Amino acid sequence: MPVDILVGTQWGDEGKGKLIDVLTRDVDMVVRFQGGNNAGHTVEIGDKRYVLHLVPSGIFRPEVTCVIGNGLVVDPVALDEELRGIEEKGFSTDNVQLSNRAQMIFIYHRVADSLNESGATKKIGTTGRGIGPAYMDKMRRTGIRAIDLKFPEKLAEQFRTECARYNKIFAEAGIQQLDVEAELTKVLEAAKRLAPMVCDTVYSVNRAVKEGKNVLFEGAQGALLDIDHGTYPFVTSSNTTSGGACTGGGVPPQSIRDVWGVIKAYTTRVGEGPFPTELFDATGEKLRQIGREFGATTGRPRRCGWFDAVASRYACMVNGINKLAVTKLDCLDDLDEIAICVAYKVNGVLTTEFPASVAELEAAEPVYEYLPGWKCSTSEARKAADLPENARKYLARMAELVDSEIAIISVGPRRDQTFAADAE
Ligand code: GDP
Ligand code: IMO
Ligand code: MG
Repeated sequence: MPVDILVGTQWGDEGKGKLIDVLTRDVDMVVRFQGGNNAGHTVEIGDKRYVLHLVPSGIFRPEVTCVIGNGLVVDPVALDEELRGIEEKGFSTDNVQLSNRAQMIFIYHRVADSLNESGATKKIGTTGRGIGPAYMDKMRRTGIRAIDLKFPEKLAEQFRTECARYNKIFAEAGIQQLDVEAELTKVLEAAKRLAPMVCDTVYSVNRAVKEGKNVLFEGAQGALLDIDHGTYPFVTSSNTTSGGACTGGGVPPQSIRDVWGVIKAYTTRVGEGPFPTELFDATGEKLRQIGREFGATTGRPRRCGWFDAVASRYACMVNGINKLAVTKLDCLDDLDEIAICVAYKVNGVLTTEFPASVAELEAAEPVYEYLPGWKCSTSEARKAADLPENARKYLARMAELVDSEIAIISVGPRRDQTFAADAE
């Protein structure tokens, strides 16, 4: 029963979509287990580039079953649009299953998201997709689940009730009221199309596990955006770490074999919140341009900085990562010298532990170790031996500092620019 989990080890956008696409060559089922369409997972096949938000990144392999698990918050209108887009590009969506237990995001969650942000003293810089408010409704037990897509009358009744509740909040805030019936029409249209794919995915996933199929869980966001382990409150509203796969997919912990951690050779972050190794200079700008570091969901420029081994070691520990996939090594090709943050100095005290407090993270001065660059292209490498010695040394130091092993190296966005670390 080989069940593996793949998660991001930083603040998202590590290249999870690409890795999932590569790993699904040998996989029967891919399961997303948390988050929503705040995710933007890029897959490049040949000269084509696809960005996925809710649909698992196994969709480009027709034999793979793609499950949108119970732990997600799903905007039905956005999912309908995404599925249409995929079909228009010539791929089948027949193998997509949507958990009947998944919570749904509606217009009022998106409006509440932007209202929260506009009134906040500490803006989080959310993606504006309604993620936080939808998870809030799940926890306050007023959420509407995907199972109700199969029962339009009940769905309409619940939708109207929730719209009335939110309209009161919006009236108090002095913002525009929702046009409930117009919004309901859009939801019911999407419901017609999505209802046939709604099923009890907890059973289908567990059946696959029992039959010995290869199942891969696809994390969204990254460990440092986890609601418990991230840089709270500058986080997303779900458990992005590996434990979330059990609750968000409905599988027991003992069914898990490997936990893959996708780790960028440097660090990026979108939105607000502490980022100790952030670069505000020409090197930061260079990484942004070379790495094409602009949000796959919102298009926002990503903040860029050096690799932070303190943060990533914490992430590897919490996730139980035993296989690392290092991405974007090629983006460092041009640098004379590369820094790795090996410790923080917080208010004069040296630490290698990742602080829970935002104030401490904001005060943290990174302690850097400098490694020489390699100053040549790595994007044509197809095995570790093809890499320049300094690149191999850099990778070895990353692995040592985060206390895990590198299993895959990625030197470009395409499928063929990925190889096993022990490939000969
Ligand atoms: P995700 O959210 O973790 O799936 O990552 P994103 O898709 O948001 O961002 C990763 C970006 O880096 C995408 O544009 C990928 O096509 C690209 N990418 C992935 N791996 C590599 C790599 O090894 N080298 C380069 N240059 N780009 C990569
Ligand atoms: P993938 O899966 C990077 C960030 C937002 C914001 C915070 C909260 O592509 O790696 P939310 O809309 O979730 O309430 O926003 O989380 N964020 C991401 N950053 N990659 C993502 O997804 C993200 N999803 C959310 O920018 O800082
Ligand atoms: Mg992304």
